[in-house]
Amino acid sequence: MDKVLVARAAFPDIVDRLHAHFEVDDNPEDRILAKPELIARLAGKRGAFITGSERIDAEVLDANPQLQAVCNMAVGFNNIDVAACTARGVIVTNTPDVLTETTADFGFALMMATARRIAESEHYLRRGEWTKWSYDQFVGPDVHGATLGILGMGRIGQAIARRGVKGFGMKLVYHNRSRLAPEIEADLGARYVDKATLLGESDHLVLVVPYSPASHHAIGAAELAQMKPSATLTNIARGGVVDDAALAIALKNRTIAAAGLDVFEGEPKVHPGLLEVPNVVLTPHIASASIATRRAMASLAVDNLIAALGHGPNAGRPPTPVNPQVLAR
Ligand code: GLV
Repeated sequence: MDKVLVARAAFPDIVDRLHAHFEVDDNPEDRILAKPELIARLAGKRGAFITGSERIDAEVLDANPQLQAVCNMAVGFNNIDVAACTARGVIVTNTPDVLTETTADFGFALMMATARRIAESEHYLRRGEWTKWSYDQFVGPDVHGATLGILGMGRIGQAIARRGVKGFGMKLVYHNRSRLAPEIEADLGARYVDKATLLGESDHLVLVVPYSPASHHAIGAAELAQMKPSATLTNIARGGVVDDAALAIALKNRTIAAAGLDVFEGEPKVHPGLLEVPNVVLTPHIASASIATRRAMASLAVDNLIAALGHGPNAGRPPTPVNPQVLAR
């Protein structure tokens, strides 16, 4: 029987489906496996169920030439060196689509919490500092009717845009590698702009761009300086898309009004400067964390692993491959 590694804990009733096809080495205590341990635990395994916390690179692959499938329980796959996998004939899969609407709900909620100062005012109340209502207490910018800016207009970016435009009457500007189809632009009243215009016009800028060397520090000191002092920035993309040190300074100096962050450079560590400023809402990478969506992600990753290793009804045709060219060989 083929052996697979389940590198992190996931819903046991879903992961159990692997037992019908494979000998499963799992991690019920849910420890993050450091690289040497990950390499050792992959020995003899043909496939792996991983999450964003496992890094699969050339060193891991070369130590495990028997590995044929790496199935990520995440839509983002910057934790995987896909080119190295493709070069070695290793199929990589991710979990797109099933998390789009849930992640967009969260992105919109985080943007609203940031603009309307929900976390900051809640902390104030809990500290016992609320003694009276005042006309200017925790006033912030409006969301409805404001200009929503989106950097990265993929599935999740479009789902956030729909919420803003259709639900809150927002005006929409966006920047992306490629432009939306004209009918989608028309439906959303979306204006495609260059990055400088996006930074300058957005009242609420939301980042939904995949992490890659090209998007590293896409928002740094220079970009923050181009934003309105009244603007908010929300990052649900990946740590590293924002220069967190520069953002902490901008928030402290109020060169932008506030930020909402679900992802961080070097997470689960958080830049200490971000912990010190009141005008930031911080959440622990939970944008996809509805029960139904996390279950759907685990299920899709399991389906991918079963199919990628030639089992089940979709044998040889994993539903959501990242490098389908490997399957064609
Ligand atoms: C979460 O960050 C994901 O990529 O699914």
